Amino acid sequence: MCGIVGYIGTKEKKEILLDGLQELEYRGYDSAGIAVIENHHLEHFKAVGKLENLRNKTKSYNSNGFGVSIGHTRWATHGKPTELNAHPHLGEFSFVVHNGIIENYQELKKELQSQNVTFLSQTDTETIVHLFENYYKKTPNAFTAFTQTVSRLEGAYATLLITEAAPEAIFFAKNGSPMLIGFGEEEVYFASSDTPIIGKATEVYYLEDGEYGYTQNGTVFLFNADGAKKFTTKALATDKAMAQKDGYRFFMEKEIYEQAHVMNDTMMGRVLDNRVYFEELENNLFDNIRAIKICACGTSYHAALTGSYLLERIAKIPCHVEIASEFRYKEPLLHDDTLFITISQSGETADTLEALKMAKRAGLKSLSICNVDNSSIVRESDQAILTRAGIEKGVASTKAFATQSMVLWMLALYVAQLREAIDADTLQQELQAMRQTPKALLVNDKLHEKIHRLSKRYLHGHGFFFIGRDLFYPLALEGALKLKEISYRHAEGYPAGEMKHGPIALADSELFTIALMPKTLHYDKIKSNVEELSARDATILAISPEPFELADDFIQTHYDEHPMLEFFEMMVVTQLLALEVSIRLGNDVDMPRNLAKSVTVE
Ligand code: F6R
Repeated sequence: MCGIVGYIGTKEKKEILLDGLQELEYRGYDSAGIAVIENHHLEHFKAVGKLENLRNKTKSYNSNGFGVSIGHTRWATHGKPTELNAHPHLGEFSFVVHNGIIENYQELKKELQSQNVTFLSQTDTETIVHLFENYYKKTPNAFTAFTQTVSRLEGAYATLLITEAAPEAIFFAKNGSPMLIGFGEEEVYFASSDTPIIGKATEVYYLEDGEYGYTQNGTVFLFNADGAKKFTTKALATDKAMAQKDGYRFFMEKEIYEQAHVMNDTMMGRVLDNRVYFEELENNLFDNIRAIKICACGTSYHAALTGSYLLERIAKIPCHVEIASEFRYKEPLLHDDTLFITISQSGETADTLEALKMAKRAGLKSLSICNVDNSSIVRESDQAILTRAGIEKGVASTKAFATQSMVLWMLALYVAQLREAIDADTLQQELQAMRQTPKALLVNDKLHEKIHRLSKRYLHGHGFFFIGRDLFYPLALEGALKLKEISYRHAEGYPAGEMKHGPIALADSELFTIALMPKTLHYDKIKSNVEELSARDATILAISPEPFELADDFIQTHYDEHPMLEFFEMMVVTQLLALEVSIRLGNDVDMPRNLAKSVTVE
C-alpha cells in the first residue's frame, strides 16, 4: 500500500527519499514520486512501475545543501496507476503526498473547480494542495493556510506538504493513517513506518490522530484540537526486519491485525453513497450472462464458496464453484452465457491460470479477483477487480482471504443492482453493514489474550473439526486450513449438518470441535448439531454472540445483526487460534513446512 517519506536538512535528499521508499517496497505500489525544494528551486519526478524507473529518471539530479523534500509510493485507488495520478501532487507552488482517503474530496473538488482551479489527476489527494494554495492566496501565511486545509479534510490521511511560500518547512497532518517523525542531527525525517528512517534518525515520535503542524530549523511545532502540544520522543528501533513487522512477532500476526485497515482500501471508491461501483468493470460485462462459475485453489477457493452463497442469495444468479485442479481435467461443459471468475491472491497459481485459459478457449467472458496487478491471471482475464490487500508475506493467507470475501460481497450487490434483484431498503442495509466491516475486524487485546490462554488446551487430541452452516461452512473450511497449515495438526472443515452422516463416529473427548454459531443464520440448526457432538463427549469451543451452555470453551462475538459482520469477526477468531496454537508448538508461523506462497506448478 502507499508509503511516505519526508526529509528536511542538508544531506543529499534524493538518495534519502529513494532509499526510504525502497524500504517500503514490500507493501506494494504501482508508481512513485519525489519532490524537493532547495534554494527556492522546486523539482519533482514521477514514474510508473518499480522504483528503478524513478531512479533512472533522477540519475542526473542531485540536491546538496539545505532543503525540504517528500516522496511517495502509490497503490492506485482513485484513478489508474499513471504518472499524473502518482504523488507528489502539484499546485502552482506547492507539493503534497498523502496516504489514506479524503472522503469528502468530491465536494471539495467541486468547490475548488467553481473557483477555476484546474485538476490534473483523478485522485482525492490533489484537492489538498489546491485547497492549501487557495487559502494561502486569501491569507498569505502558510501555516494558517495549512491549518485551514486540514480542518476541511474528512476521512483518513497522513499527509506532507512543501511549498515555495515557506521553503524551509514541511507541513504534516495525521488522522487514521500512520505517520511518524524521526529526529537526527539537525535534521528531521517523516515516514509512514519505521523502516525508512532506521539507521538515519535516532529518536522518533509516532503522531496521533488529529495531530498536525510543521517543522522548521530542526524544531517540530505540533498541534491538535486543543492547540499547541508538547511531545516526547523515544529511541528508534535499530532492527529493520523487526520494524517491518511493526512490532508483531510474525508477519501473519501483523496481517491479521491489518485487516481492519486494508478493508477500507478494498472498499475505497467502490462503496459510495447508496450503491456499489466498480469503475474498473465495463458496463457490458454482465450482458447476456445467466450463470457464474468460479474457479480457485486453497484459501481462494474458500472465498469463492463464500461468494457463491452471496451471489445466489443477493444477486439471484446461479453460481457454481470448482477447485481449479479438478476443473482442468473433468472435461467441463461450458456455455458462453456463463461468466468465468477466477480468484487468486498471487495471480500466478498454475491450476487457476490454466482453468482460465480453458474457459477463454470455450468462449466465456472472464473476470479475475486478484491481489496482484499485472499478474498472469489479471493479464489473461478480460476484466479484473483488485483486492488491494497489500503484499501478504505470511504464507498462510489471512488478509487476502478477507479482502477476496469482501470483493465478492460487493460483487453480489453490484450484480444485484444490475439485475434489479435487490430493493432499495435491503441494499441500504447491506451497505450499512458493509461499512461496519473494518470495525468487526479490529483485534481486541482482551480477545487475543483469551485465545492465547485457551490455545494451550488445543495442542494435542486426535483432530479438529471446524463446523458451520451456510456462509459459515466455507469459513469452517478456511479455519481448518489455517490451523493445519501452521500447526501441522489434523483439522477438517465440515458442514455441521453433515456430521451425523459419518464423521460423528470420531467424536470423543479428544476430538476438538470449533463450532461457528452465528446468531443471524440458522442458529437453532447449528446449535442442535453441536449438541449432538457434545452428547458424544467431544470437546467444544463455541464461537457465537449467544452464550452456549454445553461449550467447554466459549468465545463471545459481538456483531449479531448481519451474517457477514459475524463472518468477519469469527474469521479473526479462527485466524488467531491457528496463530496461537502454532506459536505454542514452536513452529515457523510465517514459513510453514512444505508450503510456498505462490504455487506456479501443477
Ligand atoms: C492458504 C493459501 C493457499 C492459497 C492457494 C491459492 O493459506 O494461501 O491455499 O490460497 O495456494 O493461491 P492463490 O490465491 O495465490 O491463487
